[in-house]
Amino acid sequence: MADANGLFVSFEGGEGAGKSTQIRRLAERLRERGHEVLVTREPGGSPGAEAVRHVLLSGAAEMFGTRMEAILFAAARNDHVEDVIRPALARGAIVLCDRFMDSSRVYQGVTGNLEPDYIEALQRVAVNGVVPHCTLILDIPAEVGLERARKRASAVAAPDRFEKEEMQTHEKRREAFLDIAAREPERCHVIDAQKPENEIAAEIAGIVDKRLGAANIAAGSEAAQ
Ligand code: TYD
Repeated sequence: MADANGLFVSFEGGEGAGKSTQIRRLAERLRERGHEVLVTREPGGSPGAEAVRHVLLSGAAEMFGTRMEAILFAAARNDHVEDVIRPALARGAIVLCDRFMDSSRVYQGVTGNLEPDYIEALQRVAVNGVVPHCTLILDIPAEVGLERARKRASAVAAPDRFEKEEMQTHEKRREAFLDIAAREPERCHVIDAQKPENEIAAEIAGIVDKRLGAANIAAGSEAAQ
């Protein structure tokens, strides 16, 4: 990535894979070591993108079709990148993002049936050169993930537009994330999300420590607040 000093890590995976828990744990660990950490999410993460998030997740854009939704995800992503992610990386921060461009490839591209060329053209504009250094794909069988998500949702809120879809669709998404990982092994790491939480956290910490070493980002360096 061209102009960044920090480290950009995205988290991907299906419903109920435990992304939020692992992001929280990794952020705590890195902060304890003196790094500036920015935790963010998509769709959303900047005021403009959060406004679009509401339109997307409520299902208000569904009637306009998958192309429209894909463009809205891309619009939100570009705002998030330029407003929040690029400046954070330029300061030397570690950015942990709950979902990023691979979610569009999978949800809009594969299960939304949009042509790969269309999705990639949108992505180029959306990310504008800001590609994660490292993507952690939390992999879980659709059945297990959905069951976890259901338990969580019954306590909080109704499923969003993308959570309502069928098991087959969820399994297809899982395969699509694994495909991306196979095609981009330098960037992507597949993590077995059925393992105990502590083991997953340790595995993620190991991967990120290695990346920090490779990127020569020292704890408590200019990244510290
Ligand atoms: P969110 O509540 O953040 O869910 P999760 O805990 O699953 O990350 O909702 C985000 C939803 O938006 C999720 O169902 C996946 C979907 N999504 C896309 O379809 N395309 C995208 O590019 C992104 C970022 C998310």
